[in-house]
Amino acid sequence: MKGVLLSGGEGTRLRPITHTGPKQLVPVANKPVLQYAVEDLKEAGITEIGVVLGNKGREEVQEFLGDGSCFGVDVTYIVQGEPLGLAHAAGCAQEFVGEDDFVMYLGDNILNSGITDLVESFRSGNYAAGIALQEVDNPTAFGIANVDDEGQVIQLVEKPDDPPSSLALIGIYAFSPKVFDVIENLEPSWRGELEITDAIQGLLDRGNAIDSHVVKGWWKDTGRPQDILDANRLVLQRHPRSTEGTVEDGADVTGHLDLHETATIEAGAVVRGPVSIDAETTIRSGTYIGPYTSIGPDCTVCNAHVENTVLIGDTTVTSNGKIVDSLIGRGTTIGSADDLLPEGRRLIVGENSNLKL
Ligand code: DAU
Repeated sequence: MKGVLLSGGEGTRLRPITHTGPKQLVPVANKPVLQYAVEDLKEAGITEIGVVLGNKGREEVQEFLGDGSCFGVDVTYIVQGEPLGLAHAAGCAQEFVGEDDFVMYLGDNILNSGITDLVESFRSGNYAAGIALQEVDNPTAFGIANVDDEGQVIQLVEKPDDPPSSLALIGIYAFSPKVFDVIENLEPSWRGELEITDAIQGLLDRGNAIDSHVVKGWWKDTGRPQDILDANRLVLQRHPRSTEGTVEDGADVTGHLDLHETATIEAGAVVRGPVSIDAETTIRSGTYIGPYTSIGPDCTVCNAHVENTVLIGDTTVTSNGKIVDSLIGRGTTIGSADDLLPEGRRLIVGENSNLKL
Protein backbone atom coordinates (compact mmCIF):
# COMPACT_ATOMS: atom_id res chain seq x y z
CA MET A 1 0.00 0.00 0.00
CA LYS A 2 1.26 3.50 -0.82
CA GLY A 3 0.58 6.92 0.68
CA VAL A 4 -0.43 10.09 -1.14
CA LEU A 5 0.07 13.15 1.01
CA LEU A 6 -1.54 16.38 -0.20
CA SER A 7 0.48 19.48 0.36
CA GLY A 8 -0.94 21.85 -2.24
CA GLY A 9 -3.74 24.39 -1.82
CA GLU A 10 -3.44 28.09 -1.11
CA GLY A 11 -4.00 28.28 2.66
CA THR A 12 -6.17 31.39 2.25
CA ARG A 13 -7.97 30.90 5.56
CA LEU A 14 -4.63 30.99 7.41
CA ARG A 15 -3.42 34.29 5.97
CA PRO A 16 -1.30 36.23 6.82
CA ILE A 17 0.60 33.26 8.33
CA THR A 18 0.55 31.47 4.95
CA HIS A 19 1.82 34.48 2.97
CA THR A 20 5.33 33.25 3.65
CA GLY A 21 4.93 29.48 3.62
CA PRO A 22 2.59 26.56 3.07
CA LYS A 23 -0.08 25.86 5.70
CA GLN A 24 1.10 22.26 6.04
CA LEU A 25 4.32 23.53 7.62
CA VAL A 26 2.65 25.64 10.32
CA PRO A 27 3.90 24.11 13.60
CA VAL A 28 1.65 22.47 16.17
CA ALA A 29 3.52 21.86 19.45
CA ASN A 30 6.67 22.87 17.54
CA LYS A 31 6.25 20.24 14.80
CA PRO A 32 4.88 21.00 11.32
CA VAL A 33 1.37 19.64 10.76
CA LEU A 34 2.65 17.66 7.75
CA GLN A 35 5.06 15.68 9.94
CA TYR A 36 2.18 14.22 11.97
CA ALA A 37 0.72 12.83 8.72
CA VAL A 38 4.06 11.28 7.69
CA GLU A 39 4.36 9.67 11.14
CA ASP A 40 0.80 8.30 10.96
CA LEU A 41 1.46 6.77 7.52
CA LYS A 42 4.69 5.21 8.73
CA GLU A 43 3.03 3.83 11.86
CA ALA A 44 0.42 2.16 9.59
CA GLY A 45 3.29 0.48 7.68
CA ILE A 46 3.13 2.84 4.68
CA THR A 47 6.61 4.07 3.79
CA GLU A 48 6.33 4.81 0.05
CA ILE A 49 4.79 8.27 0.04
CA GLY A 50 3.95 10.50 -2.91
CA VAL A 51 3.80 14.13 -1.79
CA VAL A 52 1.56 16.27 -3.98
CA LEU A 53 2.86 19.83 -4.32
CA GLY A 54 0.94 22.93 -5.34
CA ASN A 55 2.40 26.08 -6.83
CA LYS A 56 2.94 27.64 -3.45
CA GLY A 57 5.48 26.54 -0.85
CA ARG A 58 6.92 23.75 -3.01
CA GLU A 59 10.53 24.45 -2.09
CA GLU A 60 9.76 24.68 1.63
CA VAL A 61 7.98 21.31 1.66
CA GLN A 62 10.79 19.68 -0.32
CA GLU A 63 13.39 21.21 1.94
CA PHE A 64 11.56 19.96 5.02
CA LEU A 65 10.85 16.37 3.90
CA GLY A 66 13.86 15.85 1.62
CA ASP A 67 13.89 12.26 0.34
CA GLY A 68 12.00 11.18 3.48
CA SER A 69 14.95 9.31 4.99
CA CYS A 70 15.02 11.59 8.07
CA PHE A 71 11.51 10.33 8.83
CA GLY A 72 12.13 6.69 7.87
CA VAL A 73 10.06 6.90 4.65
CA ASP A 74 10.70 7.16 0.93
CA VAL A 75 9.27 10.35 -0.60
CA THR A 76 8.45 10.95 -4.28
CA TYR A 77 7.29 14.42 -5.30
CA ILE A 78 4.31 14.92 -7.61
CA VAL A 79 3.48 18.39 -8.91
CA GLN A 80 -0.21 19.28 -9.08
CA GLY A 81 0.22 23.02 -9.59
CA GLU A 82 -3.13 24.84 -9.41
CA PRO A 83 -5.40 23.49 -6.65
CA LEU A 84 -8.08 22.04 -8.93
CA GLY A 85 -9.55 19.81 -6.25
CA LEU A 86 -8.75 16.81 -4.10
CA ALA A 87 -9.79 14.33 -6.80
CA HIS A 88 -7.57 16.17 -9.28
CA ALA A 89 -4.69 15.90 -6.79
CA ALA A 90 -5.35 12.15 -6.40
CA GLY A 91 -5.44 11.81 -10.20
CA CYS A 92 -2.00 13.43 -10.43
CA ALA A 93 -0.68 10.56 -8.28
CA GLN A 94 -1.92 7.79 -10.63
CA GLU A 95 1.46 6.98 -12.14
CA PHE A 96 3.10 6.88 -8.70
CA VAL A 97 0.34 4.64 -7.27
CA GLY A 98 0.26 2.18 -10.20
CA GLU A 99 -1.74 -0.96 -9.35
CA ASP A 100 -1.42 -0.55 -5.57
CA ASP A 101 -4.03 0.47 -3.04
CA PHE A 102 -3.25 3.78 -1.39
CA VAL A 103 -4.10 6.06 1.50
CA MET A 104 -4.70 9.70 0.65
CA TYR A 105 -3.96 11.98 3.60
CA LEU A 106 -4.74 15.72 3.54
CA GLY A 107 -1.58 17.38 4.80
CA ASP A 108 -3.42 19.92 6.96
CA ASN A 109 -5.32 17.32 8.97
CA ILE A 110 -4.17 16.01 12.33
CA LEU A 111 -5.72 13.28 14.42
CA ASN A 112 -5.05 11.72 17.77
CA SER A 113 -5.36 8.02 17.18
CA GLY A 114 -3.44 7.47 13.93
CA ILE A 115 -4.72 5.69 10.82
CA THR A 116 -3.89 2.04 11.53
CA ASP A 117 -7.54 1.13 12.33
CA LEU A 118 -8.76 2.74 9.11
CA VAL A 119 -6.13 0.93 7.02
CA GLU A 120 -6.80 -2.46 8.66
CA SER A 121 -10.56 -2.05 8.26
CA PHE A 122 -10.15 -1.20 4.53
CA ARG A 123 -7.83 -4.17 4.00
CA SER A 124 -10.19 -6.60 5.77
CA GLY A 125 -12.73 -6.57 2.90
CA ASN A 126 -12.98 -6.13 -0.84
CA TYR A 127 -13.51 -2.38 -0.77
CA ALA A 128 -12.97 0.21 -3.49
CA ALA A 129 -12.60 2.94 -0.87
CA GLY A 130 -12.47 3.40 2.87
CA ILE A 131 -13.56 6.63 4.52
CA ALA A 132 -12.95 7.97 8.00
CA LEU A 133 -15.85 9.82 9.63
CA GLN A 134 -16.47 11.94 12.68
CA GLU A 135 -19.53 13.78 14.05
CA VAL A 136 -19.23 17.57 13.64
CA ASP A 137 -21.28 20.55 14.83
CA ASN A 138 -20.99 22.39 11.50
CA PRO A 139 -21.71 19.82 8.74
CA THR A 140 -22.13 22.45 6.02
CA ALA A 141 -18.34 23.02 6.17
CA PHE A 142 -17.32 19.44 5.28
CA GLY A 143 -17.90 16.50 3.00
CA ILE A 144 -20.78 14.61 4.65
CA ALA A 145 -21.68 10.90 4.55
CA ASN A 146 -25.13 9.43 4.93
CA VAL A 147 -24.73 6.02 6.54
CA ASP A 148 -27.55 3.48 7.20
CA ASP A 149 -28.15 1.61 10.46
CA GLU A 150 -25.74 -1.16 9.44
CA GLY A 151 -22.93 1.32 8.77
CA GLN A 152 -23.32 1.08 4.96
CA VAL A 153 -22.52 4.33 3.16
CA ILE A 154 -25.51 5.34 1.02
CA GLN A 155 -24.67 8.88 -0.06
CA LEU A 156 -21.81 11.40 0.02
CA VAL A 157 -22.11 15.11 -0.50
CA GLU A 158 -19.56 17.94 -0.37
CA LYS A 159 -20.34 20.91 1.92
CA PRO A 160 -24.13 20.49 1.66
CA ASP A 161 -26.60 23.33 2.35
CA ASP A 162 -28.95 20.77 3.80
CA PRO A 163 -26.74 18.06 5.39
CA PRO A 164 -28.21 14.53 5.41
CA SER A 165 -26.22 13.78 8.60
CA SER A 166 -23.52 15.35 10.77
CA LEU A 167 -20.91 12.69 9.93
CA ALA A 168 -18.01 14.50 8.26
CA LEU A 169 -15.45 12.87 6.01
CA ILE A 170 -12.19 13.55 7.71
CA GLY A 171 -9.18 14.08 5.50
CA ILE A 172 -7.93 10.49 5.32
CA TYR A 173 -9.14 8.07 2.64
CA ALA A 174 -8.13 4.59 1.46
CA PHE A 175 -8.57 3.73 -2.22
CA SER A 176 -8.10 0.93 -4.67
CA PRO A 177 -6.86 2.08 -8.11
CA LYS A 178 -10.48 1.79 -9.32
CA VAL A 179 -10.91 5.39 -8.16
CA PHE A 180 -8.83 6.64 -11.11
CA ASP A 181 -11.49 5.49 -13.64
CA VAL A 182 -14.09 7.56 -11.78
CA ILE A 183 -11.80 10.60 -11.48
CA GLU A 184 -11.24 10.59 -15.27
CA ASN A 185 -14.97 11.16 -15.79
CA LEU A 186 -15.64 13.68 -13.01
CA GLU A 187 -17.07 17.15 -13.67
CA PRO A 188 -16.04 20.16 -11.54
CA SER A 189 -18.37 20.96 -8.64
CA TRP A 190 -20.14 24.27 -7.93
CA ARG A 191 -16.83 25.54 -6.45
CA GLY A 192 -14.98 24.60 -9.62
CA GLU A 193 -13.05 21.69 -8.11
CA LEU A 194 -12.90 17.97 -8.83
CA GLU A 195 -14.23 16.73 -5.50
CA ILE A 196 -12.96 13.53 -3.88
CA THR A 197 -16.42 13.22 -2.31
CA ASP A 198 -17.94 13.00 -5.83
CA ALA A 199 -15.31 10.40 -6.78
CA ILE A 200 -16.32 8.19 -3.84
CA GLN A 201 -20.01 8.71 -4.71
CA GLY A 202 -19.08 7.59 -8.27
CA LEU A 203 -17.53 4.38 -6.88
CA LEU A 204 -20.74 3.80 -4.91
CA ASP A 205 -22.92 4.44 -7.99
CA ARG A 206 -20.91 1.80 -9.88
CA GLY A 207 -21.84 -0.78 -7.25
CA ASN A 208 -18.56 -0.84 -5.32
CA ALA A 209 -18.41 -1.43 -1.58
CA ILE A 210 -17.19 1.49 0.54
CA ASP A 211 -15.84 0.90 4.03
CA SER A 212 -16.66 3.50 6.66
CA HIS A 213 -14.89 3.91 9.93
CA VAL A 214 -15.84 6.34 12.70
CA VAL A 215 -12.67 7.81 14.15
CA LYS A 216 -12.25 7.78 17.91
CA GLY A 217 -10.39 10.59 19.63
CA TRP A 218 -9.98 14.09 18.33
CA TRP A 219 -9.40 15.21 14.76
CA LYS A 220 -8.63 18.70 13.45
CA ASP A 221 -8.60 20.23 10.01
CA THR A 222 -6.09 23.04 10.69
CA GLY A 223 -7.51 25.39 8.06
CA ARG A 224 -8.05 28.42 10.33
CA PRO A 225 -5.96 30.08 13.09
CA GLN A 226 -8.35 28.86 15.80
CA ASP A 227 -7.87 25.28 14.54
CA ILE A 228 -4.10 25.63 14.96
CA LEU A 229 -4.58 26.78 18.57
CA ASP A 230 -7.03 23.91 19.21
CA ALA A 231 -4.67 21.35 17.68
CA ASN A 232 -1.76 22.80 19.65
CA ARG A 233 -3.72 22.43 22.89
CA LEU A 234 -4.76 18.86 22.06
CA VAL A 235 -1.24 17.76 21.09
CA LEU A 236 0.37 19.43 24.13
CA GLN A 237 -2.08 17.54 26.34
CA ARG A 238 -0.64 14.24 25.12
CA HIS A 239 2.99 15.36 24.90
CA PRO A 240 5.47 13.48 27.07
CA ARG A 241 7.61 15.62 29.34
CA SER A 242 11.15 16.01 28.01
CA THR A 243 13.05 18.73 29.78
CA GLU A 244 16.47 18.63 28.15
CA GLY A 245 17.20 22.34 28.21
CA THR A 246 18.37 24.60 31.01
CA VAL A 247 16.02 25.53 33.84
CA GLU A 248 17.93 27.96 36.06
CA ASP A 249 17.64 27.86 39.84
CA GLY A 250 14.92 30.30 40.79
CA ALA A 251 12.75 29.55 37.76
CA ASP A 252 9.30 28.32 38.75
CA VAL A 253 8.23 25.48 36.44
CA THR A 254 5.27 23.10 36.88
CA GLY A 255 3.28 20.85 34.55
CA HIS A 256 4.41 19.17 31.36
CA LEU A 257 7.31 20.93 29.72
CA ASP A 258 8.95 20.05 26.42
CA LEU A 259 12.16 22.10 26.53
CA HIS A 260 14.70 21.82 23.72
CA GLU A 261 18.26 21.09 24.84
CA THR A 262 19.41 24.53 23.66
CA ALA A 263 16.52 26.48 25.27
CA THR A 264 16.73 28.27 28.61
CA ILE A 265 14.26 29.29 31.29
CA GLU A 266 15.96 31.94 33.38
CA ALA A 267 15.64 32.53 37.12
CA GLY A 268 12.55 34.60 37.90
CA ALA A 269 10.48 33.20 34.99
CA VAL A 270 7.30 31.23 35.62
CA VAL A 271 6.18 28.39 33.32
CA ARG A 272 2.94 26.46 33.77
CA GLY A 273 2.69 23.50 31.42
CA PRO A 274 1.80 21.95 29.17
CA VAL A 275 4.24 24.10 27.25
CA SER A 276 6.68 23.42 24.41
CA ILE A 277 9.79 25.56 23.93
CA ASP A 278 12.05 25.04 20.91
CA ALA A 279 15.76 25.51 20.10
CA GLU A 280 17.76 28.60 21.07
CA THR A 281 14.78 30.23 22.78
CA THR A 282 15.14 32.08 26.08
CA ILE A 283 12.42 32.82 28.60
CA ARG A 284 13.67 35.71 30.67
CA SER A 285 13.02 36.76 34.25
CA GLY A 286 9.63 38.36 34.91
CA THR A 287 7.89 36.33 32.18
CA TYR A 288 4.86 34.10 32.70
CA ILE A 289 4.26 31.35 30.14
CA GLY A 290 0.86 29.76 30.71
CA PRO A 291 -0.66 26.43 29.65
CA TYR A 292 -1.06 25.38 26.00
CA THR A 293 1.69 27.62 24.69
CA SER A 294 4.24 26.60 22.06
CA ILE A 295 7.22 28.85 21.51
CA GLY A 296 9.22 28.14 18.38
CA PRO A 297 12.97 28.41 17.77
CA ASP A 298 15.06 31.58 18.19
CA CYS A 299 12.61 33.51 20.37
CA THR A 300 13.20 35.73 23.39
CA VAL A 301 10.33 36.43 25.76
CA CYS A 302 10.91 39.05 28.41
CA ASN A 303 8.53 40.45 31.06
CA ALA A 304 5.51 39.18 29.15
CA HIS A 305 2.47 37.06 29.98
CA VAL A 306 1.84 34.53 27.21
CA GLU A 307 -0.88 31.90 27.38
CA ASN A 308 -2.66 29.46 25.02
CA THR A 309 -0.60 30.86 22.16
CA VAL A 310 1.62 29.67 19.31
CA LEU A 311 4.75 31.74 18.55
CA ILE A 312 6.00 30.21 15.31
CA GLY A 313 9.60 31.34 15.77
CA ASP A 314 12.25 34.03 15.48
CA THR A 315 10.18 36.40 17.61
CA THR A 316 10.98 38.82 20.40
CA VAL A 317 8.36 39.74 22.97
CA THR A 318 9.18 42.50 25.42
CA SER A 319 5.65 43.73 26.04
CA ASN A 320 4.46 43.57 29.63
CA GLY A 321 0.92 43.06 28.38
CA LYS A 322 -0.98 39.78 28.19
CA ILE A 323 -0.85 37.77 24.99
CA VAL A 324 -3.54 35.08 24.96
CA ASP A 325 -5.20 32.84 22.35
CA SER A 326 -2.84 34.16 19.66
CA LEU A 327 -1.04 32.80 16.62
CA ILE A 328 2.10 34.86 16.01
CA GLY A 329 3.98 34.56 12.72
CA ARG A 330 7.71 34.21 12.24
CA GLY A 331 10.01 37.23 12.58
CA THR A 332 7.64 39.26 14.76
CA THR A 333 8.60 41.87 17.36
CA ILE A 334 6.10 42.66 20.10
CA GLY A 335 7.09 45.57 22.31
CA SER A 336 5.25 47.64 24.85
CA ALA A 337 2.99 50.54 23.88
CA ASP A 338 4.29 52.33 27.00
CA ASP A 339 7.59 52.87 25.20
CA LEU A 340 5.90 55.02 22.56
CA LEU A 341 5.52 58.75 22.24
CA PRO A 342 2.84 59.89 21.52
CA GLU A 343 0.86 57.31 23.46
CA GLY A 344 -0.81 54.58 21.45
CA ARG A 345 -0.30 51.28 19.72
CA ARG A 346 1.97 50.97 16.73
CA LEU A 347 0.92 48.12 14.44
CA ILE A 348 2.19 46.52 11.26
CA VAL A 349 -0.47 43.97 10.46
CA GLY A 350 -0.88 41.61 7.49
CA GLU A 351 -4.10 41.39 5.49
CA ASN A 352 -7.04 39.47 7.00
CA SER A 353 -5.59 39.72 10.49
CA ASN A 354 -7.76 39.67 13.57
CA LEU A 355 -6.59 41.87 16.47
CA LYS A 356 -8.11 42.35 19.91
CA LEU A 357 -6.40 45.23 21.76
O1 DAU B 1 -10.76 18.32 6.29
C1 DAU B 1 -11.74 17.47 5.81
C2 DAU B 1 -12.39 18.06 4.57
O2 DAU B 1 -11.34 18.27 3.61
C3 DAU B 1 -13.47 17.09 4.02
O3 DAU B 1 -14.57 17.00 4.90
C4 DAU B 1 -13.96 17.60 2.66
O4 DAU B 1 -14.83 16.65 2.11
C5 DAU B 1 -12.78 17.81 1.71
O5 DAU B 1 -13.23 18.38 0.48
C6 DAU B 1 -11.76 18.75 2.33
O6 DAU B 1 -12.34 20.04 2.45
P1 DAU B 1 -11.51 21.41 2.54
O7 DAU B 1 -12.31 22.47 1.85
O8 DAU B 1 -11.15 21.64 3.96
O9 DAU B 1 -10.21 21.09 1.70
P2 DAU B 1 -9.00 22.08 1.39
O10 DAU B 1 -9.30 22.83 0.14
O11 DAU B 1 -8.67 22.84 2.63
O12 DAU B 1 -7.82 21.07 1.06
C7 DAU B 1 -7.38 20.09 1.98
C8 DAU B 1 -5.89 19.81 1.81
O13 DAU B 1 -5.58 19.37 0.50
C9 DAU B 1 -4.98 20.99 2.06
O14 DAU B 1 -3.84 20.48 2.73
C10 DAU B 1 -4.60 21.50 0.71
C11 DAU B 1 -4.63 20.23 -0.13
N1 DAU B 1 -5.08 20.45 -1.52
C12 DAU B 1 -6.30 21.00 -1.75
C13 DAU B 1 -6.78 21.17 -3.03
C14 DAU B 1 -8.15 21.75 -3.29
C15 DAU B 1 -4.27 20.04 -2.58
O15 DAU B 1 -3.15 19.52 -2.34
N2 DAU B 1 -4.72 20.22 -3.85
C16 DAU B 1 -5.95 20.76 -4.13
O16 DAU B 1 -6.32 20.88 -5.34
